[in-house]
Amino acid sequence: MNEPAKVLEVCKLVKSYHSLSGDVRVLRGIHFTLFGGDTVSIRGESGCGKTTLLNSLSLLDKPDSGEVFWRDVEYASKGNDRIAKQRAHFIGFIFQFHYLVPELTVLENVLLAVRIGGERVTTAKKRLARDLLTRVGLQKRMDALPFSLSGGEAQRVAIARALINQPPLIIADEPTGNLDEDTAESIFSLLMSLCEEHGTSLILVTHNPNFAQRTRRQFSLHHGKLEEITGT
Ligand SMILES: Nc1ncnc2c1ncn2[C@@H]1O[C@H](COP(=O)(O)OP(=O)(O)OP(=O)(O)O)[C@@H](O)[C@H]1O
Ligand SMILES: [Mg+2]
Repeated sequence: MNEPAKVLEVCKLVKSYHSLSGDVRVLRGIHFTLFGGDTVSIRGESGCGKTTLLNSLSLLDKPDSGEVFWRDVEYASKGNDRIAKQRAHFIGFIFQFHYLVPELTVLENVLLAVRIGGERVTTAKKRLARDLLTRVGLQKRMDALPFSLSGGEAQRVAIARALINQPPLIIADEPTGNLDEDTAESIFSLLMSLCEEHGTSLILVTHNPNFAQRTRRQFSLHHGKLEEITGT
């Protein structure tokens, strides 16, 4: 049987922040490999560096040292323009807050991600955007403006937006942290189902142990190191 393809690999990742009160070494040598279709959760106490780790993996913020491979290409050593161009196709992001553009409709918000990825909004892309919005249950809200959406609906738009460029990887930082329990459950289940349907890998940061246990692999970030939680 063929080994599944590597989607992401990081080696010896180190990241510090410099402040007036001194340097804080947040990531102290992270090693991590993610394969195609894998779902992974990362837990850890507030302030332990989970968002820092996601920002480093996605090179939104460059690590001090270490290597970041997207598929088989090392990107940490590349220039910001090249990274940004590749990132738009390689990673879809979902955050705790949806960051929809208030002046754009639901459909336009999803299609904006196509433009940011440097591509034209073709008829096929529009069809894909409508299909994704239908899949997340927003077929009747495509022309709505973000202010009129509930928190759960806005997060559904964010999921469709994250998938529109058909990236191999979704990075989600506390995507349900701002939602009530039932809405959080439906958003989490939707995200897991969509990743499975599209064969998309998922890295999910969550404080919710119930969600964390439902990903295929589980990690904990502690004292700047990532540890895989095995067996129960
Ligand atoms: N831009 C920055 N400048 C200085 N320090 C920072 C910066 N960003 C984060 N930190 C510090 O780095 C540490 C890790 O922060 P990070 O946001 O990664 O934690 P987190 O695990 O995501 O926390 P939470 O669960 O609350 O979201 C914290 O001590 C934080 O104060
Ligand atoms: Mg965080």
